[in-house]
Amino acid sequence: MRRKPIIAGNWKMHKTRDEALQFIYAVSNKVPSKNLVDSVICAPFTVLRCLVKRQGDNLRIGAQNMHYLDSGAYTGEISAPMLKAIDVSYVIIGHSERRAMFNETDESVNKKLHKALEYELVPILCIGETLEEREKGVTEEVLKRQLELDLKGLPAEQVKEIVIAYEPIWAIGTGRTATNEVANAACAFIRGEIARLYDEETAQAVRIQYGGSVKVSNIDELMSMPEIDGCLIGGASLKADAFIQMVQSAVNNKAAN
Ligand code: 13P
Repeated sequence: MRRKPIIAGNWKMHKTRDEALQFIYAVSNKVPSKNLVDSVICAPFTVLRCLVKRQGDNLRIGAQNMHYLDSGAYTGEISAPMLKAIDVSYVIIGHSERRAMFNETDESVNKKLHKALEYELVPILCIGETLEEREKGVTEEVLKRQLELDLKGLPAEQVKEIVIAYEPIWAIGTGRTATNEVANAACAFIRGEIARLYDEETAQAVRIQYGGSVKVSNIDELMSMPEIDGCLIGGASLKADAFIQMVQSAVNNKAAN
């Protein structure tokens, strides 16, 4: 099955409104057609609206987090209907930085996935092991546990819509990228688990990204791997030129396969 590649930038806590505007003006006419690739920028809440208003046809905007309830007394939180109301299309759920620093658990990740899908936001679910877990040889166990808990109660039809980002924590922001083989093997394992939990059709439909120190100089190798359908890119996505080059790399490599 041919899966459309998906390149997403995760800006994390970067860019003021002026900086975000500069970026969107620089990329808006240069993003390849959405028929070839899904291009997404996941930006801080404060710039979502201004980016959505200026996104070209080929670029979609995503948030980096959301609450799992519609509304309530949750100071400082943002809900799925709030994102939907301003035409945000994607939302990152369960990023390892939120799991490690903001008490995100598999239980809250699961609730957030249900809520995002209810509002037709495309979730980018992040999973991945720590360095200690990799060195202990328990990577597969960790991925298996995260998938089972995070996807609990979701029907196959909804799982097909989810993008899963395999982000080994030891590769995030460290300059230490997983080798193509390691990244591809983990993505293959994730697809196998989806087949086990659901069925082969669902596993073949779901798109799996790799994330962790992806940049212009290594994205070609990663995107040439059969199980890697895209990348979730932090630091290197902050520069407009680099972002465009990386989206183009996804198009070229998947067209060549
Ligand atoms: P870096 O690309 O900066 O390593 O970040 C990866 C990441 O966490 C994307 O969500």
